[in-house]
Amino acid sequence: MASLVSFQSLAYIAAALLFILALAGLSKQSTARRGNILGACGMALALLATVAVAASGAGNTAPVIGLVLVALLIGAGLGLWRAKSVQMTQMPELVAMLHSFVGAAAVLVGWNSFITQPGGALPDAAENAFHLGEVGLAVFIGAVTLTGSVIAYLKLSGKMGGKPLMLPGRNWINLAAVLACIGLIAWLVNTTGMMGAVPLLIITIISLALGLHLVAAIGGGDMPVVVSMLNSYSGWAAAMAGFTLGNDLLIITGALVGSSGAYLSYIMCKGMNRSFISVILGGFGDGAKAAGAGAGAQEGAAPQEGDYTEINAEEVAAMLRASKSVVVAPGYGMATAQAQFAVADLVRKLADQKVDVKFGIHPVAGRMPGHMNVLLAEAKVPYSMVYEMDEINDDFAEVDTVLVIGANDTVNPSAETDASSPIAGMPVLRVWEAKDVVVFKRNMGSTGYSGVANPLFYNDNTRMLLGDAKASLEAILAAL
Ligand code: TAP
Repeated sequence: MASLVSFQSLAYIAAALLFILALAGLSKQSTARRGNILGACGMALALLATVAVAASGAGNTAPVIGLVLVALLIGAGLGLWRAKSVQMTQMPELVAMLHSFVGAAAVLVGWNSFITQPGGALPDAAENAFHLGEVGLAVFIGAVTLTGSVIAYLKLSGKMGGKPLMLPGRNWINLAAVLACIGLIAWLVNTTGMMGAVPLLIITIISLALGLHLVAAIGGGDMPVVVSMLNSYSGWAAAMAGFTLGNDLLIITGALVGSSGAYLSYIMCKGMNRSFISVILGGFGDGAKAAGAGAGAQEGAAPQEGDYTEINAEEVAAMLRASKSVVVAPGYGMATAQAQFAVADLVRKLADQKVDVKFGIHPVAGRMPGHMNVLLAEAKVPYSMVYEMDEINDDFAEVDTVLVIGANDTVNPSAETDASSPIAGMPVLRVWEAKDVVVFKRNMGSTGYSGVANPLFYNDNTRMLLGDAKASLEAILAAL
């Protein structure tokens, strides 16, 4: 048994190192695949060590191993099926859904731990109090993560409107819920026996409602931050579950996920020029504000609808033939049109004709962090052609033609020019500084994710290529 425990400690240290290496690998497109494999190896090792020690602790090991194997097979089967069937565009909602599972697991672990060891079950009073505090916190964070992630899933998948729920005094409601949970955890810590079930049940109900309300109050435009924030919560929920189970690796893994999620939220906030607190307080993406911004834009820089200039695929091909430098600014529309392969073919053709071609990637283009990078990697676009927004934003004035392929909010000049716009201050790709801009979108009636009008479409140097991005690109390729 002692040698099994030291095997477990060694395996946990190796798994923790593999998780850290996985995170490091995932930070770069070129090493992301290796990072994923290292993470999967770490998880396999952690599972093996946990099951081996748990099984050796039980009198008759066969039923334990049998039960774990059945659970593993069902989980792995479902995971494989979803990973194979999910569309790239559905990935954010899948991630949100997976976060809800972590939240649910933390709630169940918390309750299980309470039922098997209620107040007074441990020999020492301080240990009892500490244990009940962990249980209360695990249930609180887990329940908020569970319902918050379900709402994020519903919003991202379009099964629920993206408009924020604006209850009067919503921030006071949230504050009251948090304070009530703190008070209830204090009550729980001072209970003995099953009496603690009362505060724990009230904590569960209030936290589930808090998660629902917290995310329902956040509008569509802030969803990327919410997803990474829930990623962070799910990490802390796992870490709390690790404390209640006395599992060191779960504490380390939870802390890694919790802190990397928090850091990702910070990067996202920077990408959208929003403060983390203003995101949590919600209200962004309110329909009234968005409509106001649209009206403001029409009075100011943006002309009325109808003032845009259309272009066809043959004319774009001629424009590209005459260009020395071209930048492609892709957005969510490239993902929905599955146009990445046609884009890759086009840039290859242009590069063969000695045109200087680059991609300009906005940090929140698409619907998840790194969305565009993943699609371009899938289409085997060389990494050397892909530039982050900060690396390319000062160069647009030198560019002959920018192809805006299914991007809208991320190239909206009103973020810089209209202080009343809901996306005011969000850093955007300054594509309008180029000599010519071609925007690929299907029709003029629709807006981007944040519902804000885009004056770029009506600029003198902008041409609109209306239609599905993939079909338009194929027509340009044929004309080239
Ligand atoms: P959006 O502002 O969402 O605009 C998408 C554009 O693609 C629209 O102009 C749309 O116009 C066009 N489009 C859609 N399907 C198309 C198709 N098949 N062919 C051609 N065009 C098509 O995209 P964006 O610029 O990438 O901005 C991303 C937005 O999503 C930001 O507001 C961001 O905050 C938010 N968001 C980002 C994330 C992350 S982490 N990246 C997560 C959630 C939300 P039509 O409909 O007329 O075609």
